[in-house]
Amino acid sequence: MSEEVQTKPAGPVQDLKDMATLVSLSKQRGFVFPSSEIYGGIGSTWDYGPLGVELKRNMKETWWRSMCDREDIEGLDAAILMHPKVWEASGHVAGFVDPMVDCKTCKGRFRADKLDSSPCGQKPSKNAGAGGACELTEPRNFNLMFKTHMGPLEETGSVVYLRPETAQGIYVNFLNVAQSSRQKVPFGIAQIGKAFRNEITPGNFIFRTREFEQMEMQFFVKPGTDMEWFEKWKADRIQWHYDNGIRKEKLRFHAHAGADLAHYAKAAFDIEYEFPIGWSELEGIHNRTDFDLGRHQEFSGKNLLYFDESTKEKYIPYIVETSVGCDRAVLAALCDSYRFDGDRTWLQMHPKLSPYKVAVFPLMKKPELTEYSDKLYADLKKHFRVTSDVSGSIGKRYRRQDEIGTPFGVTIDFDTLTNHSVTLRHRDTMEQTRIPAEKLIHVIRDQIENWGK
Ligand code: GAP
Repeated sequence: MSEEVQTKPAGPVQDLKDMATLVSLSKQRGFVFPSSEIYGGIGSTWDYGPLGVELKRNMKETWWRSMCDREDIEGLDAAILMHPKVWEASGHVAGFVDPMVDCKTCKGRFRADKLDSSPCGQKPSKNAGAGGACELTEPRNFNLMFKTHMGPLEETGSVVYLRPETAQGIYVNFLNVAQSSRQKVPFGIAQIGKAFRNEITPGNFIFRTREFEQMEMQFFVKPGTDMEWFEKWKADRIQWHYDNGIRKEKLRFHAHAGADLAHYAKAAFDIEYEFPIGWSELEGIHNRTDFDLGRHQEFSGKNLLYFDESTKEKYIPYIVETSVGCDRAVLAALCDSYRFDGDRTWLQMHPKLSPYKVAVFPLMKKPELTEYSDKLYADLKKHFRVTSDVSGSIGKRYRRQDEIGTPFGVTIDFDTLTNHSVTLRHRDTMEQTRIPAEKLIHVIRDQIENWGK
């Protein structure tokens, strides 16, 4: 194989230092683009490119399988637009507000509760809080729900909201799902879908956006068993992040207490990830008690009591919720996997998340090599998401795949034509092994299944 191929790290291996590096890599390699870029962009919305959409789909798939492969969880896909009373019952119309302040000097607009982490618009080295450069107005409450109108007339009676969380679509379907699937409490309903929040200070790439995707699961339990289920779900959810290959030392729990605790919650924990912006919420696990079903029963006038056939009791189930932003999980996967050794950049992500599992390279653009490689590509494609690359030196081609997190490279050279062996290269170690082409599918599958074990 040619000389230029790197086989050892060029220097100490570094993690991602700042978000700007990731934003740039994401754009160049087709993970995430700024939305409506040719028009100068629109604040805080992002588009997922060819690789980003695969990564996101893989993230959703691992979440969906972890939920819906269980016997006690059913899936749902509820509408984004719901009856406006839903948001009165949920407390969002009255209470889904952030306190907002304006600065008379720099004209910046900030969340009054986040002033210490908001840089002043004119003097970014200072923050907008006490002792900072800003001259602030009194806080006013700002509702984060996007409003629109249903039907052709924009009158008060036609106001509807873009859902700010997917959870409510689950609550209003609780009885539909229980009756149609014949599930008995305890059981859960899982849903993936878009949510919208008119955030005052969106930012940090895809960390906080105004349009995002949530992966939420609501688990309905008998009152009195709720804390036990809460603890089970806490353990299960952090394990899911570990199983996605996120490093354990970068994840931690943060308990909500006092004013931090939402109006509906009896207990709440965040799973936090250490992003380049510091430790921040990745997922929330909440014991929501009977608040949600109780409120929907009150506002809809429909009986939402559950009848427990085994004990003949009637009750409103308690809900243990797990809620993770898909975009935030994608951001954590990108941040966590980024590596740089002073020369080479690679995404050391779990193969189940990687957009491509295998890249196939004919050593040179010679017809006998490309013919062999095309055939191998077609065979592998029946089993994995595969890409191929014929342009540039083999070292450059390896690097391109490293940067997008492709865990395996397969190189076809002249020896392959005679002995049917290929070089299998590993993204993380750069180790190369020669193996019979016929064993490739088995070897790759085996290594993916046993990844990290
Ligand atoms: N149903 C409960 C709920 O929505 P939340 O803590 O407001 O709880 C849950 O949101 C998760 O949704 C967060 O942990 C985060 O991952 C994601 N999320 C919330 N707001 C977001 C935003 N503006 N941009 C991206 N993700 C967001």
